[in-house]
Amino acid sequence: MAVLPIITAPDPRLKKKSKPIVTVDAEVRQLMDDMLETMYAAPGIGLAAPQVGVLKRVIVLDIEREDVKTGPLCMANPEIVEASDEDAVYEEGCLSLPEHYSEVVRPAKVTVRYRDRDNAEQQMVCEGLLATCVQHEIDHLDGILFVDHISALKRNMILRKLLKTRKEKEREAAEGKAAAPKPKVKETAPAL
Ligand code: NI
Repeated sequence: MAVLPIITAPDPRLKKKSKPIVTVDAEVRQLMDDMLETMYAAPGIGLAAPQVGVLKRVIVLDIEREDVKTGPLCMANPEIVEASDEDAVYEEGCLSLPEHYSEVVRPAKVTVRYRDRDNAEQQMVCEGLLATCVQHEIDHLDGILFVDHISALKRNMILRKLLKTRKEKEREAAEGKAAAPKPKVKETAPAL
C-alpha cells in the first residue's frame, strides 16, 4: 500500500467527470487500498479517486462515530438509486479544500448501489453522516466539490484563500523555509 499525494483546489482534475470501472480487478483493488491508506494518513473519513489524480469511479469511506461505525468501505461505480425528500445539514470539509468548512444541505437518506472490493454488486441504505459522506464522494466523481453547493460569494472566497495559501507555500519552499506545522483537523468537521 502507498500514501498518494492529495490534489487540492483549484485544480482542473477536480472538475472532471470520472470514468466507470469495467471490473474490480487487482489493479482497482490496489487503488482502493492505496486510497484507504491515503485517507487514514490525511486523516479523513472519505476519499474519491480524482482527489489522488485518478479519474475513475472509485470512492473509499470509513466512518467511526457514536451513531455510525462502517469500517473500511470501498465502492466502485457508486450510484444513488433513491434519495429521501427530507434534507439534512452538515458542516462539510474536504481533503481537497484543506481547512475550509461550510454547511451543505443534502438528502438525509440515500440508497447507494455499487461494486465492492470483490466486484460483487451491493446496495446500502445510508443515513446521517454516512449519507452526507457518500453523496460528497460521488459528487467528486462528477467534478463537483462541496463549495459548488454553497453561494458563489462564499465559494470564491474559499478558492481565493486556497490559491493564496498555495502561493505562500510555494514562495516559502523557494526561499528554503520550513513549512509551518499543519494545524489539527477539527473533530466536529469531517474531511471528506
Ligand atoms: Ni471531498
